[in-house]
Amino acid sequence: MAGLISFVGAGPGAVDLLTLRALDRLRRADVVVWASSLIPDEVLEFVSPVAEVHDSASMTLEDVLEVFERHPSLRIVRLHSGDPTLYGAIQEQLNWCLEHGRAVEVVPGVSSVTACAALLGRELTIPGVAQSVVVTRVAGRTQASMPPSEQLRSYAALGGTLVILLSGAHPERVVEELLAPGSAFTPDTPAAVVVRASWPEERLVRTTIAGITDAVRALEASRSLTIVVGEVLTATGVRSHLYSPVFSHRFRVRSVGTSTVGRPRARPKRSVR
Ligand SMILES: C[S@@+](CC[C@H](N)C(=O)[O-])C[C@H]1O[C@@H](n2cnc3c(N)ncnc32)[C@H](O)[C@@H]1O
Repeated sequence: MAGLISFVGAGPGAVDLLTLRALDRLRRADVVVWASSLIPDEVLEFVSPVAEVHDSASMTLEDVLEVFERHPSLRIVRLHSGDPTLYGAIQEQLNWCLEHGRAVEVVPGVSSVTACAALLGRELTIPGVAQSVVVTRVAGRTQASMPPSEQLRSYAALGGTLVILLSGAHPERVVEELLAPGSAFTPDTPAAVVVRASWPEERLVRTTIAGITDAVRALEASRSLTIVVGEVLTATGVRSHLYSPVFSHRFRVRSVGTSTVGRPRARPKRSVR
């Protein structure tokens, strides 16, 4: 649609983790504003050679909005890393679009949150171990962005699985908050530090909360670094209800003592554009 501004998730890095919809929007774009600091250059190979391309790494919000304003009837892609709704700073852009009567859409992307879990080969929500995931951060220079009730120590007091983004420059503070008085965690609680999940240079260190600072130092990276904390990282001997033969639900009746192997069903016909 002419004039549409698409806020598109580019995924965590690997180009084959772009969604089909993201590809479609990139191919049709007349103008692309992309974040080069977290998105690989290869993504631009899907963009038309005649499209106007801006790197937002050196731009202010005003610069980006000026690009939007200059092209009221072109198809614009604003490309953000991972999923644009997580730490994407898209709300101020969406608000401007709404105030200026511009048509918008948000195209979800594969977040670094799930890309890190995939690299670790662990489910973040194991029954009986953790059923909640908190995606959070510690504040650095952007302290004012953190609502007072959302300090990392508040979530540490609850336990569960924590995925901590944007905090690679402050590993000591992460550990201090995770082990603050009242924490549900201990220094031995499993943790992992992941850098650039899904990129060719992806790296990870499996450790404990006590080892987070050393792990971050060993990886010599503070950008594109995510810390995952919780018992889900090492839990064994667990089994969910969902595929238990003694648990019935809408799609499968309880079947004790009989085979639970279902007959293959014909595939519904679908077209992928
Ligand atoms: C501005 S936030 C953007 C998050 C993004 N919207 C998402 O859904 O992944 C940047 C932070 O995301 C995390 N991050 C982004 N890409 C990553 C990757 N490939 N591997 C590990 N962490 C990553 C890091 O914590 C980084 O500091």
